[in-house]
Amino acid sequence: MVLHRRRQPTELYGVVLIWLYSSFCKSKLTAHAAVVDVPLLQTAAWAISSPTSYACAVRPQFDNCTDPWSVAQAWWYVAGNVLAASSYASGSSSSVPTEVTKDAKKMVQHLTAFFATPQQRSFSRSARRAYNLHDHLLGNETSAPIVLRKLQLDVPDTVGVGVPFPVTSVMVDYASSALQLRSGSAMPLLGLATSRDCRPSISGMAQALKLGVRHVELNPGVASSVGKAIADSGISRSDIFLSVIWELPLNSEERFKVMLIDLQVSRVDLVQVPRGPDIKNIWKIVKSLKSQGLIRTLGVRDYSDEELAKVGGGIIDEIEYAQCKFSPYRPGPTRHTWQGFGRRSIALAASAVVSDWPHVLSPSDDPHLQGVARRVKRSVPQVLIRWALQLGLAVVFKSQNSKHIEENMATLGFVLPEGEMRLISGLATLAQPWKPPGDGFAHVYTRKNSVQAGARGVEL
Ligand SMILES: NC(=O)c1ccc[n+]([C@@H]2O[C@H](COP(=O)([O-])OP(=O)(O)OC[C@H]3O[C@@H](n4cnc5c(N)ncnc54)[C@H](OP(=O)(O)O)[C@@H]3O)[C@@H](O)[C@H]2O)c1
Repeated sequence: MVLHRRRQPTELYGVVLIWLYSSFCKSKLTAHAAVVDVPLLQTAAWAISSPTSYACAVRPQFDNCTDPWSVAQAWWYVAGNVLAASSYASGSSSSVPTEVTKDAKKMVQHLTAFFATPQQRSFSRSARRAYNLHDHLLGNETSAPIVLRKLQLDVPDTVGVGVPFPVTSVMVDYASSALQLRSGSAMPLLGLATSRDCRPSISGMAQALKLGVRHVELNPGVASSVGKAIADSGISRSDIFLSVIWELPLNSEERFKVMLIDLQVSRVDLVQVPRGPDIKNIWKIVKSLKSQGLIRTLGVRDYSDEELAKVGGGIIDEIEYAQCKFSPYRPGPTRHTWQGFGRRSIALAASAVVSDWPHVLSPSDDPHLQGVARRVKRSVPQVLIRWALQLGLAVVFKSQNSKHIEENMATLGFVLPEGEMRLISGLATLAQPWKPPGDGFAHVYTRKNSVQAGARGVEL
C-alpha cells in the first residue's frame, strides 16, 4: 500500500504561490501577445524551393517556365523575406551572409525591370539570382546550406497597423455570423463555392448544408445538382443564401428563368457579374431580372474600383457586393478599391483565400502562416479564413471534403489575437516589397512604421 504524506500548511502555501506566479506569467504573456519566431529565412528557403519556382530558376528562359508571372512574384517573396531577415538581423550574431543579401538585392533589381518591361533578359537574370539563392539557402554538392537561424519579433498588441479596410459602413454581425447588405438582406459570412470543374455531388452538398453551410455560391451549370441537394438536405430554402455567378449557360433572361426552375427556387439572393467585355449588356439583363423580383441583390467579381467607375452607367451605385481574390500575399486588387467599395457600403467578399489561386505558392505551406497556426492551435486554412473574416470580409471557399468544410465553418468560433492579425496582414509587405508601406499599410515587419517602442521590426 502506498502511504501519502499529509502536506504541511507551509508547503501548501508554496504550491499556491507557484501556481499564482505561473498564472501571472501566463497572463502577462497573453496580454502582450509577445515575442514570436519570424521564420524569414525559412520562408525564403521554402518559396525558392517550390517545384515550379525552382524549375524556372534551373532553366532560366521565360519560354521554358510554366508560369513565369506567378514565379516572378514568388521570387519577390523570396527576396522580400531575405532582405527583411538581413535588415532585421544586421549587426547581430545571426546576420545573413553578404552574398545572400547581394543576390536578393540584385534579384529585386532584375524583377523590377521585368515587371516594368517584360523581357527575356531581365527574367533570365532574375532566374540566375534565384538559382544562387536556392544554393545558398539550401546548399548544393559543394556548399552547405546557410544556417537558417530563428529571428524573433516583439509583436505589441496595441499598434494600429495592418491592412486598412474601411468596411465600417457595412454591418458585420458576428453574433449571427452574417453581413448586412445595403438593401437589407443578411448574407452569411461564410460561403461554399461550387463550380463547373468541380461539380458537387448532391450528397456532398446536402452534407455541407447539414454541417451548417447557409451561403452557397454556384456556377449556373450546376444549378440542378444544387437544387436537388437543397431538397435532400431538408433545410428550408429560405434559410439558404443563394449566390449565382453570371456565366454561361446564362446569357439571357430566358436562360436565367430556366436556371431558377433547375434550382427549384423562385428567385436568388445575389447575382455576381464577373469582369469581362460585355458588362453593359449583362447589366441590362440583370437589372431587368431584379426589377421582376427574380434577383434580390447585384454584385461584381474581380473588378477594381477604378475599372468599375470607367464602365459607367451608374453600375457602381447599384452594386451591393464585390468579390475579389484575396490572400495575405495579394490582399485584393488595390487598397483604393477596398476603400472605394467600403465608402459606398459595398460588402466585400474574399475568394481563393486558402489556395491563393492561380499562384504557385500554397499559403498552407508557408512557414510564417504555419507558425501562426501552431501558436493559435488551428490549421492554416482556418487561420487564413479567420484573418479575412476579422478584417470585415465575407469569405467564399471551395472544398469537396466534409471534414474541411466543418473545419472552415469552425472559423466563426474563435478569434485571432491582434498581433497575429498584423503578422499575417504584413506578409503583403514581403510579397510586394516594391509597394512602399504607408497609407495605413504599415506593419510590424517594417521598422519605420512600428510606432510602439520595443517593436523590433525590419525595414525593407
Ligand atoms: N475570381 C476568379 O477568377 C476565381 C478563380 C478561382 C476561384 N475563384 C473563386 O474563389 C472561390 C474559391 O476558389 P478556390 O478554389 O481558390 O478556393 P479556396 O477555398 O481558396 O481553395 C480551395 C482548395 O483549398 C482546399 N481546402 C479548403 N479548405 C481546406 C481545409 N480546411 N484544409 C485543407 N484544405 C482545404 C480545397 O481542397 P478540398 O476540396 O480537399 O477541401 C481546395 O483544394 C470561389 O468563389 C471561386 O469561384 C475565383
